[in-house]
Amino acid sequence: MKFFLDTANLKEIREANDLGLCDGVTTNPTLVSKEGDVDFKQHVAAICEIVKGPVSAEVTSQDVDGMLREGLEYSKIAPNVVIKCPLTREGLKATRRLADDGIRVNVTLCFSPAQAILAAKAGASFISPFLGRLDDIGENGLNLLQSIVEIYQNYSWKTEVLAASLRHPIHVIEAARMGADIATMPFKVIEQLFNHPLTEKGQAQFLADWAKSGRK
Ligand code: E4P
Repeated sequence: MKFFLDTANLKEIREANDLGLCDGVTTNPTLVSKEGDVDFKQHVAAICEIVKGPVSAEVTSQDVDGMLREGLEYSKIAPNVVIKCPLTREGLKATRRLADDGIRVNVTLCFSPAQAILAAKAGASFISPFLGRLDDIGENGLNLLQSIVEIYQNYSWKTEVLAASLRHPIHVIEAARMGADIATMPFKVIEQLFNHPLTEKGQAQFLADWAKSGRK
C-alpha cells in the first residue's frame, strides 16, 4: 500500500519524504488555505520538487469548462501533478475529458459504492472514498472502502483506490488489510503509526543496561 501525505505543508512533506513514507501528496482547498497567502501554482510546484510521486491539485470551478481550464493549467506545473475533480456530474465530465487527454484525475468526495463505479467508468486514475467524514455522521467509512475494493476486483479498471479522510492508525491498518492501493493521511497519523509503549520501554531498558555495563 502506498502512503500519500494529506497536507499542503512543506515541512511535513519534507519530513515524511525523509522517512521514506511519502509516495505522493493530496491537497485540497482547505489544506492549501491553511498555508496562508501562498501562490497556489508555485506552492504545488514546490511540493512537486520534494515528492516524485503523484501530487493532487484540486479544481475549484463548478462547471466542466472551468474545471478543464484549471485542470489543463495545473497539469503544466509538473509531470507528477494529478487533477482532483469532485464527484459531481460536471466533475465526472471533466474527468472523462482530462483522462482522454492523458491527464490523471483523482476523483474526490466519494461517499458511496455507486459513485466509485461512476468514477472508474469516467476514467479516473484514483478514487478517493472519505472514510472519516462518513464515520463523523455515524456511518462506517471502512464498509465503504471494503465495498469499493471488492467491486473493483471484479473488473480490469485502472482506477486505484485511494483511502482518504483517514483520522487514526486503525483506518490505515484496516485499509491495508482490505487491499486499498493507497492511504492518504495527515502527518499526525504517520507519527501515531510509530508509537508503541513497549518499543519506548524496551529501548530505554537496552540503553540503561548498556550504560550500566560501563560501555560508551
Ligand atoms: C483527500 O484527498 C482529502 O484531502 C482528505 O483526505 C480529506 O480529509 P478530511 O475529511 O480529514 O478533511
